[in-house]
Amino acid sequence: MFGAVVVFIGPPGVGKGTQAAKLSEAYAIPKFATGDLLREALKNGTPLGLEAKKFMDAGHLVPDDIVLSLIREKIQAIPQSSGFILDGFPRTTAQARSLDDILKKMCHNVSLALEFVMDEEDRIRRLSGRRICPQCQRTYHVSFAPPKKDMVCDSDGTALVQRTDDDEKVIRQRSAVYWGATNPLLSYYRDRGILKTVDASKPIDSVLTDIRNLFDQMK
Ligand code: AP5
Repeated sequence: MFGAVVVFIGPPGVGKGTQAAKLSEAYAIPKFATGDLLREALKNGTPLGLEAKKFMDAGHLVPDDIVLSLIREKIQAIPQSSGFILDGFPRTTAQARSLDDILKKMCHNVSLALEFVMDEEDRIRRLSGRRICPQCQRTYHVSFAPPKKDMVCDSDGTALVQRTDDDEKVIRQRSAVYWGATNPLLSYYRDRGILKTVDASKPIDSVLTDIRNLFDQMK
C-alpha cells in the first residue's frame, strides 16, 4: 500500500489536477484538490462556496479559514496507514503549518512535495483549451485530452464547460498570486529535504511515468 502524503505545487495549468486524478486511480489512494472542493461548495450553494466565489473569480486566494474548514475534515477521515495526494493545498506557508498540525495529530507527515515546472505561455495555452465537467469536475483539453464525444463528459455524460476563472486576465492574476504567495512554500519543503521537481511540459503520459518513478522510489 502507498502510505505517503504527497503535496503538488505549481502554477495554474501546469497539470497538477490531471496527474492527481491519474495517480489516485493508479495507486488506489484518495486525492483532494481545494479548488474542486471550493467549486463543489459553490455548486451546492453553501455559504462557504458563495463567500469563496468572489475571491476565485478575481484570481485571489480564498481566506485560510474557508479552505481549512473544507480540507481538514477530508484529511481527518483518511485511515492512518493510507497515503493521499493534496493538489493545490497548501498554497501558503501558513497553510503548510496548518497542514503539519493536522497531520501531526494523525501521526503522519508530508513525505514529498512535488513542484511542477513549465513555461508560462504554454501553461496559458493549456488553460485556454481546458474544459471541465461541472458535475464530477473531471478535466479535459480540447486538443491534448479530448472527451470521446465532443463536449460531453466520458464519466457521466454532462455537457462540459469552461471554468469562469480560465479567462486570460484572471489566469495572469492567478499566476501572479502563485509567484507571490505560493512560491515561498518551495523553500519550506526544500529545507526539509523533501522537495522534488517534475518537468510538466512533457506529454501527459510521460509526466505520469516520471511521477510514478518518484513514487515508486518512496515505497
Ligand atoms: P485550482 O482549481 O487549484 O486552480 P489552479 O491551482 O490555478 O490550478 P489549475 O486547476 O488551473 O491547474 P492544474 O495545474 O490543476 O492543471 P490541469 O491538470 O487542470 O484553484 C482555483 C482557485 O481556487 C484559486 O485561484 C483560488 O482562488 C482558490 N483556491 C484553491 N485552493 C486554494 C488554497 N489552498 N488556498 C486559497 N485559495 C485556494 O491542466 C490544465 C489543462 O492542461 C487541462 O485542460 C489538461 O487537460 C491539460 N493538460 C494537463 N497536463 C497536460 C500535459 N502534460 N500536456 C498537455 N496538456 C495537459
